[in-house]
Amino acid sequence: MLIFKAFSIVLWSETLMETECSCSHVENLWFSLTDVLLKMHSVGICGSDVHYWERGRIGDYVVKKPMVLGHEASGTVIKVGSSVTHLQPGDRVAIEPGAPRETDEFCKIGRYNLSPTIFFCATPPDDGNLCRYYKHNANFCYKLPDNVTFEEGALVEPLSVGIHACRRAGVTLGSRVFICGAGPIGLVSLLVSKAMGAAQVAVSDLSASRLEKAKEIGADFTVKIKNERPEEVAHMVEGLLGCMPEITVECTGAEACIQTGIYATRAGGTLVLVGVGPEMVTVPIVNAALREVDIKGVFRYCNTWPMAISMLASKRVNVQSLVTHRFPLEQALDAFETTRRGLGVKVMLKCDPSDQNP
Ligand SMILES: *[C@@H]1O[C@H](CO)[C@@H](O)[C@H](O)[C@H]1NC(C)=O
Repeated sequence: MLIFKAFSIVLWSETLMETECSCSHVENLWFSLTDVLLKMHSVGICGSDVHYWERGRIGDYVVKKPMVLGHEASGTVIKVGSSVTHLQPGDRVAIEPGAPRETDEFCKIGRYNLSPTIFFCATPPDDGNLCRYYKHNANFCYKLPDNVTFEEGALVEPLSVGIHACRRAGVTLGSRVFICGAGPIGLVSLLVSKAMGAAQVAVSDLSASRLEKAKEIGADFTVKIKNERPEEVAHMVEGLLGCMPEITVECTGAEACIQTGIYATRAGGTLVLVGVGPEMVTVPIVNAALREVDIKGVFRYCNTWPMAISMLASKRVNVQSLVTHRFPLEQALDAFETTRRGLGVKVMLKCDPSDQNP
């Protein structure tokens, strides 16, 4: 049953792959005044896509019918709804996958990521955009300048997780930051911490090759974890930085890492929880309380695309080196398998048969 469920997701995306954009097909799509139709170009694979593919659920989000995967994406506008004024056919755009459906209280205070009714690509039951053509709310499509590639446009999504996490953590000029986990989210949190002015960033992971990548993109220190106790890891981090970090960005969701995050963070500092693991974990919460370590949650992001795009245009952040593999859309299964086996950092699917460039 599970295998069938997992397989049906890919079957569905393959069905869409075959779909050519005949005009009648496009006209038949439900298309609102505020939507744009996009010809998809690059879609990055996220751990959550692989998780839905393999397991059919993440926590309370359960895949109950075929769902198109993909939410780290960019493409070209080919048609605009009649009330869209800021985009026109031919514009290259980065897609923000979360588009609120209503102007609720969360939306009014600018924290639309918390809106319970938000549309979000590839979170059941909402379809993602790993396909040839896709329509989206135009207000959540952002024009890319000529000097930002489609792949950089797609990488605005993971980069946004790093921006939101670093904003919530209060990273600023001179911050000392400890990042747990050197997967894609740990790496973008590293890039953003540095861009926001962090003086020193230490990154931990179990994998030497992931830490190598962290070094390559700017980590000041790396901490290879074997089977040390959380207090020991915290001590190693303090030794490397020469002091305890004011900020810890936890990107694994593992119980031991959350424990480490509390012990590692300086009194009065902030721990942000970005990684998602089991709902119930045992952590030294009293230690955090007595040292006034603030623990903050992070859920996706909000209000990050314009800033991320200008950071990329000004070349203050370099995300291109995160892309380690590229596959045409027809080879989506190989791409998912590559991601599942943890072989690369970021795997990109190329959805436009006539343009497979970055
Ligand atoms: C990229 O393009 C933008 C907008 O056209 C421009 O402001 C910026 O200076 C350019 N950046 C570089 C590094 O060329």
